[in-house]
Amino acid sequence: MGRRVTPVRVGWLGAGLIATFHSKMLRHDVRDLASWAGVYDPDRSRAEAFAAASGATVCDSEEEVLDGCDAVFVCTWTSEHRRLVEAAAERGLPVFCEKPLATNLDDARSMARTVRDAGVINQVGLILRRSPAFTLLRHLVHEEASGRTMAVVFRDDQYMPVQGAYASTWRGEVDKAGAGTLLEHSIHDLDLLEWVVGPVERVAAVAREFHGVAGIEDAVVTTLEFVSGAVGTLVSVWHDVLERPSLRRVEVLCERGWYCQEDDWFGPVEWIRSGDRGRVAGDDLLAKAAAEIPYEAVNPDGAFVRAVAEGRPAWPDFDVAVRAHELVDAVYRSCAAGGAPVDVPVHSPEAAGCG
Ligand SMILES: NC(=O)c1ccc[n+]([C@@H]2O[C@H](COP(=O)([O-])OP(=O)(O)OC[C@H]3O[C@@H](n4cnc5c(N)ncnc54)[C@H](O)[C@@H]3O)[C@@H](O)[C@H]2O)c1
Repeated sequence: MGRRVTPVRVGWLGAGLIATFHSKMLRHDVRDLASWAGVYDPDRSRAEAFAAASGATVCDSEEEVLDGCDAVFVCTWTSEHRRLVEAAAERGLPVFCEKPLATNLDDARSMARTVRDAGVINQVGLILRRSPAFTLLRHLVHEEASGRTMAVVFRDDQYMPVQGAYASTWRGEVDKAGAGTLLEHSIHDLDLLEWVVGPVERVAAVAREFHGVAGIEDAVVTTLEFVSGAVGTLVSVWHDVLERPSLRRVEVLCERGWYCQEDDWFGPVEWIRSGDRGRVAGDDLLAKAAAEIPYEAVNPDGAFVRAVAEGRPAWPDFDVAVRAHELVDAVYRSCAAGGAPVDVPVHSPEAAGCG
């Protein structure tokens, strides 16, 4: 797919919260495979702080970053993603782009076409696909002993991310964020619901704007019908409880098994089956996943850089993201139609990214 490059000179567009997170992960995981090239942020003080911490070089423009790197992390607010991905693809550069790919489904599809046509390695920031807790949950749910999945209850709440640890306010601006909690945050959840349970065929949803910001919904309840016959709900809320930064809880109810997961990465994951109940978290969860799946602990950022270094495809790629955008789009169409059911294009489990 690409040429081999080592070390990979990584460029940075955007130097905020998530760019800093990715940079730290890379330092931790692939220090020897990566070098820090240019960073650009229109807020120069952010670029300077990022450079001081990482060793990157502050650039005066997006072009300067793109011209001086082998791969780029697009970590700007969402409305800038498409333009910057196109600029990267034009130069043949591998690109890691944050989720959501774009503010709408058409742009997301266009971006996936762009990277495909350019033949560039691409990865999206749907990092929970690599979570050991979600991977273990998925494994347990799919074991024959569980029987068929009957229902899933997914709750995701966090404080409105224009305060606290979020040192920015763009998530309250519809032109930059595109929409509210469902697109910005729960795109992860819709992606995970398909990954854990299987392809979705229909959704129905209602949304509210308690904060009074037009276009930025802060409470969404979605019901989901899966191709398998399972049914589910997703409740996504942005409140102002600063003690609750970002919390997910998922219960999956199967014919012969009950499963519950909290915390995005290290659990706990709990289960009850006939004659078998348990709860694992942290190292015990990793050990169970490694023994039973087997799960290989892979840092998503390091995985991207390794893929670039070896010239092979990365995962989860933009096609996975497009499927998540299809679900998001269907939910918003249902909200606009007063909660009427909306059919989702059904792909094979593989094409839906959950094969
Ligand atoms: N995968 C995840 O779990 C996750 C978590 C947080 C954020 N995100 C996504 O990451 C993106 C950034 O979020 P954040 O929390 O880091 O926001 P942030 O506000 O902390 O940082 C965004 C930065 O982008 C800069 N920027 C804007 N336009 C730019 C351009 N053209 N070139 C370079 N820089 C530009 C801004 O000045 C700002 O400093 C968003 O799309 C968000 O949805 C994903």
